[in-house]
Amino acid sequence: METLTAKINLTEEINRLRREKNAVILAHYYQVSEIQDIADYVGDSLGLAQRAAETEADMIVFAGVHFMAETAKILNPNKKVVLPDLNAGCSLAESAPAEDFRKFKENYPDHKVVSYVNSTAAVKTMTDVVCTSSNAKDIVESFPQDQPLIFAPDKNLGGYINSITGRNMVLWEGTCEVHDVLSTEKVMQMAAENPDAKVIAHPECKGPVLELADFVGSTAQMLKFVKTDESKKYIVATETGLLYQMQKDNPEKEFLVVPTDETCACNDCPYMKMNTMDKLYRCMRDETPEIELSKETIEKAKKPIIKMLDLSRKIKVNK
Ligand code: 13P
Ligand code: SF4
Repeated sequence: METLTAKINLTEEINRLRREKNAVILAHYYQVSEIQDIADYVGDSLGLAQRAAETEADMIVFAGVHFMAETAKILNPNKKVVLPDLNAGCSLAESAPAEDFRKFKENYPDHKVVSYVNSTAAVKTMTDVVCTSSNAKDIVESFPQDQPLIFAPDKNLGGYINSITGRNMVLWEGTCEVHDVLSTEKVMQMAAENPDAKVIAHPECKGPVLELADFVGSTAQMLKFVKTDESKKYIVATETGLLYQMQKDNPEKEFLVVPTDETCACNDCPYMKMNTMDKLYRCMRDETPEIELSKETIEKAKKPIIKMLDLSRKIKVNK
């Protein structure tokens, strides 16, 4: 693709298009820093869904991954929702193909389904309530203790929620390809070398990493934690993009990133990082690639998302 960066001022052009088209730019914390800086709102999955539900803009520019933009479209069927790169998927969403999930669900006719928002719209149509990592515990606990549940598609988040609620939810075997490879040994080593540091982790990390953590939470919850906590140093088990906001909000604190089990030591989400300023500009200019879903999918997938938003409002998650 021809790179425009050298020829035009992307920041100016994006700002012009935002004004002219009455667009809102919603960005996830894992986006590159330039995109986080230009966005109207930067947040976690729940905050982004809440903003998408409230926006009065004509066009939603979603700087995140496909399932997040799909959620925005489901909440705004009459608005244009564009994503800078349509290939920005998610290994968790892809781990649960709709037909396989339908068959899996048939084995548990008495179970209700709680789906992590990192799932396709098709899986959401087979879901009772959607959740994010911010509100998963509260959503699960909104069901009576004796209600059997399926949790999909993240087995790490589901296992963690089972461990803190005493539930025995049936788990779909999906993982996040970024968080699942963050190394337990490295966390132990870093903690031993930095006894003054606290370990904070995203619940998509595997169980042994979560057991070592002083705090487990969504991206927004980790940010809030470090702002109010008295420690000066943190070992952070999540995608690197979050470190940008953490450092910006807390310039006096030190943040150490947990490397992966692999030799590459890279914990960038390859999908989140597909979005660039160049692609952001182009998608606003051309109003494509656009998220398109059938009316039937939107109607069915909307119900469990709205239930999540209503429950979150009641329990004041993220507000
Ligand atoms: P958050 O809801 O914590 O932002 O997480 C989204 C995600 O994709 C983490 O990998
Ligand atoms: Fe999906 Fe993991 Fe990337 Fe989040 S970090 S978007 S869960 S692949």
